Amino acid sequence: MTADDQVRGVARLAQLKRDGTPIVMVTAYDIVSARVAEAAEVDIVLVGDSAANVVLGYDSTRQVSVDELLVLARAVRRGLRTPLLVCDLPFGSYELSDEQAVATARRFVVEAGCDAVKLEGGGAIADRARAIGGTGIPVMAHVGLLPQYVDPGNAFHVKGRDADEALAIARAAFELERAGCFAIVFEAVPQPITAAIVAKLRIPTIGIGAGGATDGQVLVFHDLVGLSGPRHPRFVRQYAALFEPMVASVRAYASDVRSRSFPAQAHTYAVPPDQLEVFRARFDQLMVSQDN
Ligand code: KIV
Repeated sequence: MTADDQVRGVARLAQLKRDGTPIVMVTAYDIVSARVAEAAEVDIVLVGDSAANVVLGYDSTRQVSVDELLVLARAVRRGLRTPLLVCDLPFGSYELSDEQAVATARRFVVEAGCDAVKLEGGGAIADRARAIGGTGIPVMAHVGLLPQYVDPGNAFHVKGRDADEALAIARAAFELERAGCFAIVFEAVPQPITAAIVAKLRIPTIGIGAGGATDGQVLVFHDLVGLSGPRHPRFVRQYAALFEPMVASVRAYASDVRSRSFPAQAHTYAVPPDQLEVFRARFDQLMVSQDN
């Protein structure tokens, strides 16, 4: 995508909001999930740092590095044409200074072809967002539950159930809008709190566990297709249960290999008979010479 395409992609989301057309966002981490998202005609694909948990097996999003996420983002880029491609900036790669934030964001655009980046949190993060946006890279914000600030192994909790916390989310959201973010993700925030805040925001809002008042929704790919195991957050709706059929397929394959019923004739390559004859004759000579 060129810079013009980026601008058009971001402008399209604003248009969807104005039209009242819900925005569909899903995560992707590789060529397969990217192709699925492309074929399903979603609006935004996020290479989320949830990759840490669902793809890389870490117990916290804090553990994924910029280099790891860049590999995944490049794979997703190869599978996408239409949706806007957003990538999370990993924990520790953008908080320290505006210079650090801009340098990391540039890597995702230049090295992986991302159209935009996403940052978690408000406060000083709004300054980081402004600095990145000032270089022409669109920034998506993320408020409410911030997985990067949950200690490894700890459970995720709803944010904004008490008035102070809810007001802090509201302040952060308005600050991030003023900082020039083109959209905001609300994660695990009670529906009435989200509804009150998003009604006053001008930029598109995307919810995950935040109810139906946002302009769009996002789900983690592995959660929605049923690949992330039996335990998942309350806000996930599973549209398929692919884990069991995948296990069954690999079990059936293992059984066929063990019983020698795979591969069958249909899975093999033929060789022209004259070439086979020549090969056999020369092979015999080769074997004799090897023995001597
Ligand atoms: O990393 C991620 O998948 C996310 C979504 C949950 C919004 O940030």
